[in-house]
Amino acid sequence: MNRRKKIVAGNWKMNLNSQQVLKLMQALNRSEQEFDCDVIVFPPFVYLVDVIDFANGGGRISVGAQNCAATENGAYTGEVSPAQLADIGVEYVLIGHSERRIYYNENHSFIADKLKCSLANNLRPVFCCGEPQIVREAGEQLTYVKQQLVESLFTLKTEEIGQVIVAYEPVWAIGTGLNASAEQAQEMHTFIRHQIAEHYSLAIANEIQILYGGSCKPGNAAELFACHDVDGGLIGGASLIAEDFLNIISLAH
Ligand code: PGA
Repeated sequence: MNRRKKIVAGNWKMNLNSQQVLKLMQALNRSEQEFDCDVIVFPPFVYLVDVIDFANGGGRISVGAQNCAATENGAYTGEVSPAQLADIGVEYVLIGHSERRIYYNENHSFIADKLKCSLANNLRPVFCCGEPQIVREAGEQLTYVKQQLVESLFTLKTEEIGQVIVAYEPVWAIGTGLNASAEQAQEMHTFIRHQIAEHYSLAIANEIQILYGGSCKPGNAAELFACHDVDGGLIGGASLIAEDFLNIISLAH
């Protein structure tokens, strides 16, 4: 048994309207289920303030943003800075999600800048990495993820890295209903932890929480969370349904 506390995080992506947000947060707050893990939700920007209010009312859910700018302020039309997010009570931010890498061409150095800027503004980044299907089919997934780590995450200093949460999200598993097997997840999570140990220290590597994401559902979460190096999940689709999300939370301890 390791000492790392599990995390279940809900990435709502660009889903829900204000009524649906209200209903979902009410259902999460009202549930009498005990949470043995840390629970974080990542709503769209426009609902952050409301969700933070709800979360503060319930006292057991933290709130993160799905994205942030790579700079502190200035003439960047349409961007939201980590300082602004921290200012309204946001605690976490997703960085390097494959949808942002693929649709918005976010590259390694841009992701590294976002990591640094969010840490400088007291936001804890959830650094997402993971290989596309073609890379998995070629058996190159470890090399591919290593490069994502080296070129972005490992640009952080030793005193910064401990604030980061890592999420391994194989692209072929996201939104496809085809999750990684427990063996595949464990193999990659151990690999990531070894890389962190080599680059920083064993002590740091043993503390860092590494989440699994990609079609994680009530039906497969128990098996995935039982893996020694899987410290919880980053949940997309299933986090939009209160019952499913609560069910996954109940499996994380
Ligand atoms: P999914 O998404 O659970 O819908 O596969 C996970 C994610 O993209 O974070």
